[in-house]
Amino acid sequence: MLHNSFKPFILVSQKLRCTNFGLVVKHMLTKVEKCENLLHVSWKDSTKRTYPLVWLRDNCQCEKCFHPESKSRTLLLKEFDTHPAVSSCKVLNGTLSVAWSDGHKSAFNSDWLLLRGFDNESQRKRSEQVCSQKILWNSGLKENLPRSNFFSAINENESLVCWLKSLQKYGVAILENAPCKQGQVRILAHKIGFIKKTHYGEEFQVQAKDQPNNVAYTSTELQLHTDLPYYEYKPGVNILHCIAQDMTSAEKGENQLVDGFAVAENMRDKYPDAFKLLATTLVDWSDVGVDDSFTFNKVYRAPVFCQDITGQLIRINYSQPQRDSYFPGPLETVQDWYDALKLFCTMLYSEEYLVRLKLKPGDILIFDNRRVVHGRSGFGGGRHVEGAYIDWDEINSRLRVLEFGI
Ligand code: OGA
Ligand code: ZN
Ligand code: ZN
Repeated sequence: MLHNSFKPFILVSQKLRCTNFGLVVKHMLTKVEKCENLLHVSWKDSTKRTYPLVWLRDNCQCEKCFHPESKSRTLLLKEFDTHPAVSSCKVLNGTLSVAWSDGHKSAFNSDWLLLRGFDNESQRKRSEQVCSQKILWNSGLKENLPRSNFFSAINENESLVCWLKSLQKYGVAILENAPCKQGQVRILAHKIGFIKKTHYGEEFQVQAKDQPNNVAYTSTELQLHTDLPYYEYKPGVNILHCIAQDMTSAEKGENQLVDGFAVAENMRDKYPDAFKLLATTLVDWSDVGVDDSFTFNKVYRAPVFCQDITGQLIRINYSQPQRDSYFPGPLETVQDWYDALKLFCTMLYSEEYLVRLKLKPGDILIFDNRRVVHGRSGFGGGRHVEGAYIDWDEINSRLRVLEFGI
């Protein structure tokens, strides 16, 4: 069961809120007025919304402009007039009809227009649909990690939705009681979408190996890192299924998790210069080698902290083994950049943020590879974890399909 009573540790409330499409209440259109290149539309509940003519013409829903089966716009942009003129418009039985001066006719129904309003409330609702809320956490999350039953998640849609939403919010969730044999990560990924393949394969076996081509395939400590920073399209989510683990020692083979976004935001507040260096200095991330006879030489150039145009963190690249010795950063900033990186590392390992947990056989640990920094302590023998990746695009899409259809 998920801990519904979980009181999160909200360190930063993100700009974007939780998803909830909500049902459309049938509001009828009553009136339309044209004013220059806008239409002002009134609803029965006395609300008014304004739509640009160019947007209405672009979004004509007739079969010439919009292909109903593929649900896609087919209107030719190269022939599109961005200053369309209206010859008449009216509202009849809740439908807005527009006759354009070139003779084309469009019709828009009340609900369709309501959902696509340009007013703040409509725009906020739409943002809730496309951007999930993130709740940042610190080490207090340990006692309240979202946990669900593996079989409920794969057999009951309601449980799958609930569990995936926790993953969206906290960036980490555990599934318990999966069978202790290979193949479960694939079953889980296929309930959602499909596995993201990398040069380590679709599924990969994290075990101490004879000739390891990755430091993860040794029995030594894996310092905190994000996986595959050297991929431009790095996998969104890691799935790690503990198949075998020596449970006689609490520390050996334990996993470590930190909310990298929480630490980075704290850094932005307290040490803005260090944050800026990590957010603006380019770094080469790389992985070269051979896996299953496939030779690879991957390099991706990006800072440690990647932000979107609003400054919101979207991806952390952090891996001591996979940071290349080629360093594109300007010579003058190298020393300060190392000091900033070391500060980030110290913050990640601090008691305030680090969550330690020992997976037991049957546990599947799933976490956001753009946000959560993870590690593992060294172990003796007999530890076997099967891993796979899945992208956020597939997870977000599955959630929308399950909640709202298409
Ligand atoms: C990895 C990794 C964790 C583990 O393979 O990249 O982080 O528990 N493994 O072995
Ligand atoms: Zn049309
Ligand atoms: Zn890893």
